[in-house]
Amino acid sequence: DGRRATGGTTRPTVAVRPHPRPVPAGRRRELLAAPPFGEVFTDHMVTARWSPEEGWHEAVLGPFAPLELSPAAVGLHYGQSVFEGFKAHRRSDDRAAVFRPWDHARRLNASARRMAAPPLPPELFVAAVEVLVRQDMDWVPEGDDRSLYLRPVLFADEPHLALRPARSYLFLLLAFPTGNFFGSESRAVTVAVSEEYVRATPGGTGAAKCGGNYAGSYLAQEEAAGRGADQVVWLDAVERRWVEELGGMNLFFVHGEGERAELVTPPLTGTILPGVTRDTLIALAGDLGMRVTEAPVSLDDWRDGCAAGRITEVFACGTAARVTSVGRVLGRDGEEWTVGDGAPGPVAGRLSALLASVHRGETADRHEWCH
Ligand code: COI
Repeated sequence: DGRRATGGTTRPTVAVRPHPRPVPAGRRRELLAAPPFGEVFTDHMVTARWSPEEGWHEAVLGPFAPLELSPAAVGLHYGQSVFEGFKAHRRSDDRAAVFRPWDHARRLNASARRMAAPPLPPELFVAAVEVLVRQDMDWVPEGDDRSLYLRPVLFADEPHLALRPARSYLFLLLAFPTGNFFGSESRAVTVAVSEEYVRATPGGTGAAKCGGNYAGSYLAQEEAAGRGADQVVWLDAVERRWVEELGGMNLFFVHGEGERAELVTPPLTGTILPGVTRDTLIALAGDLGMRVTEAPVSLDDWRDGCAAGRITEVFACGTAARVTSVGRVLGRDGEEWTVGDGAPGPVAGRLSALLASVHRGETADRHEWCH
């Protein structure tokens, strides 16, 4: 389709140098039986390099292996590093569908721009994805809640510690098999509001998927976990009033029930990560005839809306989290409340099932998301 056309230019090529000793089939099958999140990687990875003279070059698929890196690499010291996360879903013995790779390529480049790093041609990004998924097809798990998670990272590897953008970058594409991020998707999670910390400020890097945003959330995430929560809730940095997102996922609020259910999600004002799953669910809910509004939601609205029964469900979404209901909220000053009856909600369930059926190819791909 139009987004994919390369305008007659040659398709980027990725040289293929297969692993001489891939993980034996028996061991791979064991690992696929209970895939942990991001711990066991497939046999291969793609690398590409950037220099001012050559641009992106030397795209190679080779064994997943440690890197040789200067201890003075800019990315290590100053965090000039951006990443993505998306998935390939098994369709049959020899076919898998990658979900929205072109949109992830675009977002990687938006993040790269914010961190003054060079963009990667989307055609090269998608060529790397195709080569890696084909090569490691045996690592794509079977089962509705299983997939191959694809993790590109683009970072500065030039050894220099002056404060300026680097003149050398590395792109890596890794893959790992994964199941449910929260252990069981039938469980509603608990979230805790961070009182002390903020994630992003206006004009900051909140909309970029840069490593520092995640490291910067760990302390608050630890505190949330200490309160018995699964994820931290971020409020806006200015008024400390508006709900922005969770530690690693976006949020939706459901008003009303059944055919009259309406969704509200915080708008992309620059301090929120523009989630591809968020965008997918806005479209799918629209396909189901639900009204979806991007509007600010305050923490007070959340609490009072739940108490009055106006807010019937809240769910988190992301590539890793898919669609996960929020059952309980630990707010500020010791306030706590339950969302609905505290169990996974029907709107989240319906959207989750629809998304899974698009992934599997059982529902027509009317938005042309599957590659
Ligand atoms: C994802 O949802 O895939 C993310 O990138 C968030 C986090 C797990 C890193």
